[in-house]
Amino acid sequence: MKTKILILDKDINEFQNLISDELFPGEKIQFIFSNDSLEAISFMGGNDIDIVISGLHVPKVNGIDFLAFVQNHFPKTFRIALTSSNDKEKCIQLIKVVHRFLKKPLIKEELLKTIKDFSSLRNFNLDAQLISTINGLCTVPTLPDIYVKLDREMNRPSISLNHVAEIISEDPLLVARIFHIAHSSFFNIPSGITDLLQSINFLGVNIIKALVLYVKIFTLKNVSSETEIILKKIRIHSINVAKLTKAIIEKESKDREEIERAYITGLLHDVGKIVLLQLNEKQRSTCYINKIQNFDSPDFERNIFGVSHIEVGTYILGLWKFPTEIIEAIAYHHDTSLIKDNVISLKQSVFIANLFSNKFDDIAIRLAKTYGIEKLNEWNQLMEGDERLDLNPSEN
Ligand SMILES: [Fe+2]
Ligand SMILES: [Fe+2]
Repeated sequence: MKTKILILDKDINEFQNLISDELFPGEKIQFIFSNDSLEAISFMGGNDIDIVISGLHVPKVNGIDFLAFVQNHFPKTFRIALTSSNDKEKCIQLIKVVHRFLKKPLIKEELLKTIKDFSSLRNFNLDAQLISTINGLCTVPTLPDIYVKLDREMNRPSISLNHVAEIISEDPLLVARIFHIAHSSFFNIPSGITDLLQSINFLGVNIIKALVLYVKIFTLKNVSSETEIILKKIRIHSINVAKLTKAIIEKESKDREEIERAYITGLLHDVGKIVLLQLNEKQRSTCYINKIQNFDSPDFERNIFGVSHIEVGTYILGLWKFPTEIIEAIAYHHDTSLIKDNVISLKQSVFIANLFSNKFDDIAIRLAKTYGIEKLNEWNQLMEGDERLDLNPSEN
């Protein structure tokens, strides 16, 4: 499928010089250039544009209004704002309108990466219609500021753990939550470790970063008591799935990165539910709240919202530029066809951990057939107390 990209900016020559066929070998991309926003609006009507990249200072209709127009009339289109260092205030207005920012002057590699990210979203079964539905339902959540700061710090050539600790310390509630999770029996932190810097050192910055995101995203302000009860259930479920996913992978691999990735994926696998819970349409939301109390059903969500938490989560983590392996595992965490050939990779481990945590006893039979009852018992032992799966449901 050809990707159509519309670029609108007053200095359009800059882009025409930058973009050549050699820039995208093997990619099917069609670029349309315009330096006139009214002309760009007319292009939008006649073509199925996949991505718009717009500068903010364009004649006739300014860039912010143009991007808002695209959001309202062509919600499936991926929207990127081109900004310069003088545009800080405008960026705040744009947060709810665009999916991504690119800095001027545009760098070839960044443009290429953004287009590839967009293409990979399509590969996770997210067609234009689904993206349109998600964008139409809600304002796609942005990454919390504190997470963005941590990410920036961790992308420096040398990471300062002191600085990481300083950034997290800006939010005392966050520190308390992280301590609470980190000092649960699961991580086996030595009792002598009492300060944040030592905890970061012990757990590793990737786990800490994921915990920050989890605490920020899974804590909502000003919600009804009903929603808070559901949120708490999702939080507990997510922590349990994170623990079990990590424990399953730890039995298969000694690679620290792989083990960390397992924990992070488990922690965030149901992030799409948080978005569905926040939808304004009271009736739909209440209906969802009533049902979500007891089970995890993507089909039920698709009936109410047109999408499920799987597509929403996959889409959000794609926009947040998470590693493909994590996004893929989230995209397939309810897909029973993963259980075959005795394979246990990240995808299967999240799937299995999610089943155990949801207590879908009937699937235990299928898991036992594929992986053997010993393995099943082994995973069951990894869960704590009443979280364990009933491996003999028929005897009760
Ligand atoms: Fe799920
Ligand atoms: Fe789940």
